[in-house]
Amino acid sequence: MEAPATETAKLAFAGKTLELPVIAGTEQEKAIDIAALRDKTGAVTLDLGFGNTASCLSAITFLDGERGVLRYRGFPIEQLAEYATYSETAYLLIYGNLPVKRELEQFTSRLADRSGLPEGMEDFFDHLPKGIHPMAVLFSAVAALSGYYPELTHPNPTREEIDSIILTLLAQIPTIAAYSYRKGNGLPVIPPRRDLSPTTANFLHMMFGPAGADGKPDEVVVSALRKILILHADHEQNCSTSTVRLVGSSRANAFVSISSGIGALWGPLHGGANQAVIEMLEKIHKDGGNFSKYVALAKDKTSGFRLMGFGHRVYKNFDPRSRILKSSCDQVLERLGVRDPLLDLAKRLEEAALKDDYFVSRKLYPNVDFYSGIILRAIGIPTDQFTVIFALGRLAGWLAHWREMLESPGFRIGRPRQIYTGSTERRFVPLAQRG
Ligand code: CMC
Repeated sequence: MEAPATETAKLAFAGKTLELPVIAGTEQEKAIDIAALRDKTGAVTLDLGFGNTASCLSAITFLDGERGVLRYRGFPIEQLAEYATYSETAYLLIYGNLPVKRELEQFTSRLADRSGLPEGMEDFFDHLPKGIHPMAVLFSAVAALSGYYPELTHPNPTREEIDSIILTLLAQIPTIAAYSYRKGNGLPVIPPRRDLSPTTANFLHMMFGPAGADGKPDEVVVSALRKILILHADHEQNCSTSTVRLVGSSRANAFVSISSGIGALWGPLHGGANQAVIEMLEKIHKDGGNFSKYVALAKDKTSGFRLMGFGHRVYKNFDPRSRILKSSCDQVLERLGVRDPLLDLAKRLEEAALKDDYFVSRKLYPNVDFYSGIILRAIGIPTDQFTVIFALGRLAGWLAHWREMLESPGFRIGRPRQIYTGSTERRFVPLAQRG
């Protein structure tokens, strides 16, 4: 994968003028290539939080935060959320094209073959502390998979091994998530079923058992989960995906690289926000529904309170995923006959914030996590499992990026620089002489 240099940028520094190549992506996004900067000038760049730094070239996801555009491999998120299955979306992200029927059948059948956990792994869940958060279980269990599949942990996996790793993780993580829920709640585990779609119906079956008369999970519930998983499936170089790439760049195995992504996702500023949103809405509800008080608190920098589910590093107009989920919320709740006061509260909170100059001037809008929790609640997912659902969706993106990175020409270990601000050289003073 290469992006051609289209023009140059001039940098004048320390009496020298440096010409730097400017490369453009297929959507005309431009980047000044500073690879020669330190060699030629002795200086590096400083970009706290990486707001202006592209860490790689990638052909997976295009995002235009100003226009609210999100496309996976060129396909608009709106179309995928409406028409695709999660397996199709995962295949698309990882392999670059929508599968034809035969490819999809083979892909889902290979996932079904691998969906049972390796022998002995079920015991893993029996030795965890009571009340452990499901994200901690997922993090540990996925890293532990490396012990069950030592043959898939080479630092330089072949293409066949890469495929096998991808299928193993895609197939087993839903099973791990469901077993962790069942064991954590003292319930017997429900083994996977190969006749159900892998990450949606099969996952719901392993979580809650047979629902309808036909023994299959409710179609409205399956479709709601499908949409949520697709909307979370990739988001270019977000915190957890960048973590997967960075850890993987040291040639650590895929199990620990993905596990590291799970750790990064858990934080409340990233995937953990979906749990935090519902906890915030519940708190406001219990407090008499006084949302104006919480809007005021979010504006007060000394309060330490943020409006969870609001704001985004890259979306500065609207988050297209949030729009889809907001309308999906109404449909799903109506079809399930659920009346959730938190939905009305969320809408009133959004309306109040969007009229407030603090939020308008900072371009803070509802993000994907603002409405997703209300749907997850309605379909019976416990609040502490919300971020696990985000991880199930994002897994396809993590794997697509991990694979793309391994196959990129010239890929090398990720290793940022820093600007040191500590003491200059000091002389060691033996303990007895320190005053
Ligand atoms: N409530 C109140 N103020 C906010 C919020 C918020 N949710 N988000 C940003 N701000 C303010 C922030 O205080 C700052 O104000 P000022 O310019 O006066 O200092 C300004 O807006 C810019 O914020 P920032 O923290 O510099 O923005 P960022 O790009 O570093 O952070 C964010 C993005 C998503 C972490 C942040 O908006 C946030 O903490 N939101 C709440 C958590 C959340 O919903 N996270 C889920 C993100 S979407 C899912 C995902 O992909 O991870």
